[in-house]
Amino acid sequence: MTVHNSVKRVTTHVLNEMKLKGEKIAMLTAYDYSIARIVDEAEIDVILVGDSASNVMAGYDTTLPITLDNMIYHGASVVRGVKRALVIVDLPFGTYQGNSKEALASSIRIMKETGAHGVKLEGGLQVIESVERILSAGIPVMGHLGLTPQAIHKFGTYVVRAKDSEEARILLEDAKLLEKTGCFAIVLEKIPAKLAEEVTLSLKIPVIGIGAGPKTDGQVLVLHDMLGITQEFSPRFLRRYHNLHAEIKGAVQMYINDVRTQQFPSEKEQY
Ligand code: KIV
Repeated sequence: MTVHNSVKRVTTHVLNEMKLKGEKIAMLTAYDYSIARIVDEAEIDVILVGDSASNVMAGYDTTLPITLDNMIYHGASVVRGVKRALVIVDLPFGTYQGNSKEALASSIRIMKETGAHGVKLEGGLQVIESVERILSAGIPVMGHLGLTPQAIHKFGTYVVRAKDSEEARILLEDAKLLEKTGCFAIVLEKIPAKLAEEVTLSLKIPVIGIGAGPKTDGQVLVLHDMLGITQEFSPRFLRRYHNLHAEIKGAVQMYINDVRTQQFPSEKEQY
């Protein structure tokens, strides 16, 4: 029996066991109760309440504007819909960088007010004090290296990170440091597959990739992208499993037509 089949509830320990046994970890984002219920029923291992909510739920260009209160609202909604998956909530921009006390206070609010099982934050050495302090309260922390969207104005573009050897060396060091400090897992976003493989082999904790090739311990995608709700975002790493944009638009157009032509409601659809 596989590890993920044998558990009623996914925990950080279950993810470790999955890595040990070579079982791939499946992670997706969700931001609301109804969708989280479906994703959980499908038996996803990890649900990330990502700050990508800033883009796909709120319509901002970047992840920077979303607030801690917004993330708590999304996190609590998701947790109410989940029975099995591990739920991790992103610490939004400005709630943990450069101030470890604030990082802890933000994480405590997330844990208390959402019921989630841990937090994720972006960066390595530069946020390590925050990671340490959050962990000291017994809050599981997931790291995030490579393309870190909260630093988009530093990078200037969303291109692949760590292609040159110096950036790759720093990324590997950061990954080892996050593991040594106590993170239970790391997300690697948009880096060369070879480097992601090297990081994955160097760490005991699970490494989850997005645009980081097939050799990581698991994969994560933004739900709205993989379902084809978003249309404008088409990076090479994204596999679309559906075209929900067209499906939803088609259904709405049918409804509009039925209302206009008085085919809805019918005899059976009234009291
Ligand atoms: O916010 C998010 O959705 C993320 C994933 C892309 C990993 O951080």
